[in-house]
Amino acid sequence: SRPLRVGMIGIGTVGSGTFRVLARNQAEIAARAGRGIELVIVAARNLERAARIVEGRVELTSDPIRVATHPDVDVVVEVAGGTGAARDWVLAAIAHGKHVVTANKALLAVHGSEIFAAARQHGVAVAYEAAVAVSIPIVKALREGLTANRIEWVAGIINGTTNFILSKMRDEGLDFGGALAQAQALGYAEADPAFDVEGIDAAHKIALLAANAFGMPVCFADAQVEGITGLQSLDVDCAEQLGFRVKLLGIARRRADGVELRVQPALVPAAHLMAQVNGSMNGIMVKADAAGLTMYYGAGAGSEQTASAVIADLVDVARLDGTHAGQRVPHLGFHAHAMNALPV
Ligand code: HSE
Repeated sequence: SRPLRVGMIGIGTVGSGTFRVLARNQAEIAARAGRGIELVIVAARNLERAARIVEGRVELTSDPIRVATHPDVDVVVEVAGGTGAARDWVLAAIAHGKHVVTANKALLAVHGSEIFAAARQHGVAVAYEAAVAVSIPIVKALREGLTANRIEWVAGIINGTTNFILSKMRDEGLDFGGALAQAQALGYAEADPAFDVEGIDAAHKIALLAANAFGMPVCFADAQVEGITGLQSLDVDCAEQLGFRVKLLGIARRRADGVELRVQPALVPAAHLMAQVNGSMNGIMVKADAAGLTMYYGAGAGSEQTASAVIADLVDVARLDGTHAGQRVPHLGFHAHAMNALPV
């Protein structure tokens, strides 16, 4: 069958990783998808830099809307970030009948309801495995592996940058600013690192996880959020001496009257599995009634680590697209609007 044709918006850390992995593992990916996955056009802000990455193998444009509306494109990969223009591009793609794969947790946390509704209306998929805990297939775990369960809670370390900072402060005695600068140099941090250190990025992600775990709308605005900017090395050291690690946790918990969503620094006993999640790694625990407790561990940030999830979603779309002959395809997440977030 004919290849799935991809248009990509953004070719920074995530986009360049996606380009590399798609090219390197082309044969394996095609075998698993049942068809080729072909990148046809890329929109980039810096065309010179983009040209060095794609080496003439893909059409380049500076106009994201050209990608979103391109007649040869079946699926748009949005890896540019931001919530303003990115919303317009994604809605334009959906309106033109394109599936969307995105790593943009901020976009979905803020405009998810509107985007998912548009996707339902146009019968296209919106997939976002890369938006949460990049290399860990946690959206797929909730949507597929644990789908028979009633979920009690989801909790974990879902921001690589802050976990890296806390680990560096503890292990190498680095100060906050020095550790953050290293995380930025390694490409872990958001374009505006305030999203990381103030807990907002983790709140975006816990809202997306809760939507999948509890079948509720994406309720980012209802999360109670505290970051790590108020912490000092002394706090980390004192916790250590008392047998605890300081970890920034995202928590979504079912209660009788709704779902509690929060992000906060927490004291985790040093012997707990979650305390072993260090550096830029992420760790997520899910308490489910039938499966019991499961835990997921893997890279929480990084170029090819995020690409891995983006391409997994492309393979999902390649399998879905065309198989439904005229039928609508579901967005690749689960939101049944059955529960509400608790007001804080
Ligand atoms: N800035 C994010 C993090 C990138 O540090 O986790 C991955 O979502």
